[in-house]
Amino acid sequence: AQFAFGMVGLGTMGRNLLLNMADNGFAVTGYDKSEKMLQFFEEEGKAHNLKGFSDIEDFVQSLQTPRTIILLVPAGPIVDSVISELQPLLTKGDIIIDSGNSHFTDTSRRYLELKDKGIHFFGMGISGGEEGARFGPSMMPGGDKQAYAHVKEMLEAVSAKVNGDPCVTYIGAGASGHFVKMTHNGIEYAIMQLLAEAYEILKNGLGYDNNQIQQVFEKWNNGRLKSFLMEITKDVFLVKDDKTGGFLVDVIKDEAKSKGTGKWTSQVAMDIEMPIPIIDTAVSTRNLSKLKKLRVELDEAFGDAEKMKVSANFIDDLEEAFYFAMANAYAQGMHLLWKASIDYEYGLNMAEIAKIWRGGCIIRAEFLEDIYQAYQKKPDLEHLFADSGIQQKIKQSLKGTRNVVSSAINAGLAIPCFAAALTYFDTLKTGRMPSNLTQAQRDFFGAHTFERIDCEGIFHANWNQKNS
Ligand code: 6PG
Repeated sequence: AQFAFGMVGLGTMGRNLLLNMADNGFAVTGYDKSEKMLQFFEEEGKAHNLKGFSDIEDFVQSLQTPRTIILLVPAGPIVDSVISELQPLLTKGDIIIDSGNSHFTDTSRRYLELKDKGIHFFGMGISGGEEGARFGPSMMPGGDKQAYAHVKEMLEAVSAKVNGDPCVTYIGAGASGHFVKMTHNGIEYAIMQLLAEAYEILKNGLGYDNNQIQQVFEKWNNGRLKSFLMEITKDVFLVKDDKTGGFLVDVIKDEAKSKGTGKWTSQVAMDIEMPIPIIDTAVSTRNLSKLKKLRVELDEAFGDAEKMKVSANFIDDLEEAFYFAMANAYAQGMHLLWKASIDYEYGLNMAEIAKIWRGGCIIRAEFLEDIYQAYQKKPDLEHLFADSGIQQKIKQSLKGTRNVVSSAINAGLAIPCFAAALTYFDTLKTGRMPSNLTQAQRDFFGAHTFERIDCEGIFHANWNQKNS
């Protein structure tokens, strides 16, 4: 046995991660059923003398024990079939790392099934796309802590670095790695939708052309809104279309697809009763975008949005609104993690998660530094907005946010996530909500009982007193 690590699945992500590992001096090998993938892999890996296997037994035999095998195959049943092919060939103490976007409940099941057989199973989220895999992703491995010691050095070597710190850490028990990656993607959906809405305001609210829009995003990316998604968004507005000679972005269909991780985030949040309405709204808005025919029909029936009436410093207000909504989106994602850590006993270190998201991943952003600081100061912080430093910044961005949201709403522009951010925040800072009325109604029609503010206990009232 000569190789330290093996990869199953030599598509772009698998290939790139393996090349990254080889660059860092690790002896690695790959397995893929497809001859074409193998050829690609050996071609690209020529400089490293990389060889792939098409026979799974030969592949497993080539690995040093305890064997460490990384799976980068599409999430779903393929993961199970690869595991059942591998499992008879493995021995106690071997490690399998599933690096796809698997649902965390699948990961929990596989973790327990393999644990019974003495095999360590890690669910590990990887973020950063093709570039990240090749030159430094952010990685979120969860599973057995002792087994992590075998892969720690390699993962730290191949990960992205921020100020020399690796963007990987042991996330926690069981399926926590995939849970955290799923939540990362939920935040990703929210930020992407906020960028789309900022574009909508600039384009249809203010009548900006693509060059002007590009300049706004560019300016923002030089300030506190600096992030990977802002950076690629500003660059989108530079790309021309070969076919029409115009901007490529203008000829792309306005129907957003998804592979499910955003939806899962919302589904789980509902299950564990955590409010993450910006993420929910981002998922729903992608679904709304798919109703193209209906939207066009209703556009004709109800008419266009108006140009916004705006003040001179409106772009500054928009920057504040973006900051505010973005902060709310991260805060909701972190809040979900905080609760999941309790409910599923993941033992998450929130500061460490913020820390490894600062580089390599799709949601990397300047703002994560602030999040990192807040959780470092108070590791059990329930909500990001309970941090006094964040509170100051949120207070300062409120005026601009209210101006942007109300102007857009008055003009009839659709800004669902900006609005969701503001209404979430306003609700969260309402010391006494009108939910006493909801409780009264529930007790009225269904005898569902209520609690009182002035004494302990469960009460039921006779509500039918209107005629008495
Ligand atoms: C990442 C991305 C990656 C993938 C998304 C796309 O972190 O590198 O999140 O995992 O590009 O899952 O998701 P949708 O296809 O659902 O937009």
